[in-house]
Amino acid sequence: MKRWFKYVKPYLPAFILGPLCMIVEVIGEVIMPRLLAVVINRATEPEKFGQLTVGVSVIIGLLLIGVALVMMAGGVGGAYFGAKASVNFASDLRQDIFDKVQKFSFANIDKFSTGSIVTRLTNDVNQLQNFVNMLLRMALRAPGMMIGGIIMAVLISPSLSVTFAITMPLMIITIVAFIAIGASKFTRMQKSVDALNSTVQENVTNVRVVKSFVREDYETDKFKTANSNLRLAGLSAFKILIFIMPIMNIFMYGTVIAVVWSGHLDVISEATKMSVGDLTNFVTYVTQILSSLMMVSMLFLTASRAMASGKRICEVLDEELDLSDENAKQPEKKVEGGRVEFKNVFFRYYKNNSEWVLENIDFTINSGETVGIIGSTGCGKTTLVSMIPRLYDVDEGSVLVDGVDVKDYSLKNLRDGIGMVLQKNLLFTDTIIENLRWGDADATYEEVVTAAEHAAADKFVSTFKDGYDTPLNKGGSNVSGGQKQRLCIARALLKKPKILILDDSTSAVDTATEAQIRSALKNDLPECTKIIIAQRISSVKDADTIIVMDDGIITGIGTHDVLLENNTEYQEIYYSQMDKTENAVTGGDAK
Ligand SMILES: Nc1ncnc2c1ncn2[C@@H]1O[C@H](COP(=O)(O)OP(=O)(O)OP(=O)(O)O)[C@@H](O)[C@H]1O
Ligand SMILES: [Mg+2]
Repeated sequence: MKRWFKYVKPYLPAFILGPLCMIVEVIGEVIMPRLLAVVINRATEPEKFGQLTVGVSVIIGLLLIGVALVMMAGGVGGAYFGAKASVNFASDLRQDIFDKVQKFSFANIDKFSTGSIVTRLTNDVNQLQNFVNMLLRMALRAPGMMIGGIIMAVLISPSLSVTFAITMPLMIITIVAFIAIGASKFTRMQKSVDALNSTVQENVTNVRVVKSFVREDYETDKFKTANSNLRLAGLSAFKILIFIMPIMNIFMYGTVIAVVWSGHLDVISEATKMSVGDLTNFVTYVTQILSSLMMVSMLFLTASRAMASGKRICEVLDEELDLSDENAKQPEKKVEGGRVEFKNVFFRYYKNNSEWVLENIDFTINSGETVGIIGSTGCGKTTLVSMIPRLYDVDEGSVLVDGVDVKDYSLKNLRDGIGMVLQKNLLFTDTIIENLRWGDADATYEEVVTAAEHAAADKFVSTFKDGYDTPLNKGGSNVSGGQKQRLCIARALLKKPKILILDDSTSAVDTATEAQIRSALKNDLPECTKIIIAQRISSVKDADTIIVMDDGIITGIGTHDVLLENNTEYQEIYYSQMDKTENAVTGGDAK
């Protein structure tokens, strides 16, 4: 409850005024039939007929209009404050979920599918918004109408009131039963929305792969299944809504018939002598009482749906961040040198796996050095470098930057000092210059051009009609694989990092351009520590040190010549590539 109150507090006036306005409307609804009864009684009973003068009619008419206007003001106010409170409630909640997702580590993100996070941020928050809106409008209105109706009905005829004393408990039992069945169905429905969103998101993101493998039919079938599951889950949940209304109506109109039947006897009977106005009045109150019960039933149904959504939202908000800098011992410290040390590091993605992905990794890179990392695919190269900017945390051992454990830096200061070009990199829907400025929002045009020159990107950007103002499509799909890689390197260089990590970042760049980038990094960024993961020996050959990895362990550290002499893995990679070079196959546009 405390959690939700946080979103209520800033809009407390609207949360209070909304239901109060609805109370005004309810009072009007209770008074109105009484005024009408006065008119009907005077019109239908011969002895009172004379009392219905023009003056009386006008007064009652004006009173009716007055009450109607006050009711309208109450209704409009209730709707306005209800909407204001619920929309703001939802907006703040959405912001908090988004902020939390921003703090997620890679490991946290791995737990939720993208589709599921999107559903929680949109659809689930909407369910809560609907519920809050409905709650504000109904919470006082429904009980007010019910209590007011009961009091008036009992005052008019205690004997007729027995009828709804019987039907009301029956209706309540029906409502409770429906809600009990409904809750689990709504949870299932939200899960189906998740699955559908995930399917669409994956398909749209990877549309090029889908088309190149001509897998549209397969994807369409996958969507059909997800869509059909959602349809079935929706139908099953909405059946509750479909049935609840007619059943409630049967109760309501059944009661009205019973009241009219026994009521007409009272009207005819000499003993009770009930007036026609009182009987119509009584019927109106019965309808009011029972429809307020229906309102409550709808409110509970929306509540059960909102509860399912609320639980899913809490899962995100309560997700324990497995990577935080709260306990950092030197939060003010910045990366200044660029020395990197791995001390007996062990790591695995799934904590209950017995196999390590990184095993006893131990090495030191001095600041300003260039280090190459090479090894077979899946041997743990990307995982290893992910430990430096704390994309994942080590399980055992430690990673030190400038002699300080990475866990003792604030995440911002640590990551500010490191420029990382991820293996699977992305550009955003914006101009080239704005994409590059991700590295440094305040970079001047000249600084951007210099970074692009170092990354061998300036030349091709200059050939574009709009140069650096050329807009990029989502993911950078309107530039080639190699061009994208070079823009990503330029973006990382603009950060002026102390440690630059290139994870297979020149795999789609031809060897001559790659050599150009290497020489620019060496000559123009001499103080920056450079860690270069590569598949090609030529990419790391000139590095100060080369780390050779195999299946999560380091099998050799040394210069090209030393490794070529005494490291079998290195020799194997070297000679396999030599053969290929001889056959004039020198890597290629793999990406
Ligand atoms: N996010 C992840 N969750 C679970 N397992 C992962 C994850 N990322 C990588 N792995 C596993 O960890 C191991 C090492 O992967 P890693 O990406 O570090 O290899 P790599 O050496 O960079 O390979 P490549 O040369 O193909 O890029 C692999 O067995 C991989 O399946
Ligand atoms: Mg990798």
